[in-house]
Amino acid sequence: MVEDGVAIRSSVVASQIAHGKYGGVVPELASREHLRAIVPVVRLALEQAGTNFDDLAAIAVTEGPGLVGSLLVGITYAKSLCFALNLPLIAVNHIEGHIHAVILEAGSKIEYPALALVVSGGHTHLFEVLEGFVYRLLGKTRDDAAGEAYDKVAKLLGFGYPGGPIIDQLAPHGDPHAVKFTLARMKGNTFDFSFSGLKTAVLRWVQAHNLTADIEARRKSPSASAQDYLALTPQPTLDLLASFQFTVIEELLRRAARSIEEIGARSLIISGGVASNAGLRTAARAAKLDCPVYFPTPALSTDNAAMIAAAAFPKLHAGKFADFALRAKANLALA
Ligand code: KG4
Ligand code: ZN
Repeated sequence: MVEDGVAIRSSVVASQIAHGKYGGVVPELASREHLRAIVPVVRLALEQAGTNFDDLAAIAVTEGPGLVGSLLVGITYAKSLCFALNLPLIAVNHIEGHIHAVILEAGSKIEYPALALVVSGGHTHLFEVLEGFVYRLLGKTRDDAAGEAYDKVAKLLGFGYPGGPIIDQLAPHGDPHAVKFTLARMKGNTFDFSFSGLKTAVLRWVQAHNLTADIEARRKSPSASAQDYLALTPQPTLDLLASFQFTVIEELLRRAARSIEEIGARSLIISGGVASNAGLRTAARAAKLDCPVYFPTPALSTDNAAMIAAAAFPKLHAGKFADFALRAKANLALA
């Protein structure tokens, strides 16, 4: 629950750890989990805010992009609440939500035009953000998203899901310059990203080194802690992880720096699950960028409802409401 677009009264996230043993999100499992969790999660959010439904001015819901089954659960429940309580319904784009996770916290410090780098399991996008929340797409991944690359590399090496947080915690134990990966060279729009070549290069490196025994050992402990994984991971693999993370960060920050120049950005917003990466945060702050950089607190980097409520506020003020014909849009674009 968010008040006036700036204060989080409560934030409840039901994580779906059950996907861990399958090495990724299983759509059918995700929608069933959403269905099971949505009523208790909303009830708990109101309880933690010390309030009830009567206090609400509107209900915001994600209309896309995402898994259609999960989106439908949210949309159907939001519509029923709005109908029963006679409240306006506000449709929010998930990517705009990630951007607002930063705006919610940094507020008036953010100057426009801003550059937003949204890096999650499904997106690696660069947007120009103008005053009044007008977005222009500058570049995006042509294949895997950055978070997806983390998850796939982790899976390949026998780590659990999601792979991002595990690699992030193990990377400082390796040498980031041990394995030299080539950076992606893009034809056409040079602000686009590509991570599939890096993923293949990691696969080749793994095939060229005999890692079967330690990969198998890790596969047997799918929900081990980073500390446990450290004991199960020999130095060459730690070096590989550090080099992989170093390359991902290079790819992200190189294009961000060029985009800042291109649009004359006065702030850089980095958000989405991968924005919780400690290595990325340190590198972005150390890079001599032409404008200040803003990250959400780690809890607001990964998916959460507070960012959706925050993104809904400008729409509430502008009276931009959705009607009951609202549909789930799996591939909804922001710009
Ligand atoms: O934004 P998010 O919670 O969900 C999507 O909209 O996709 O992002 C999830 C993604 C996963 O791929 C996960 O591995 C990645 O974010 N992630 C990280 C870190 N924490 C989460 N990647 C790198 N480092 C992290 N610390
Ligand atoms: Zn997300």
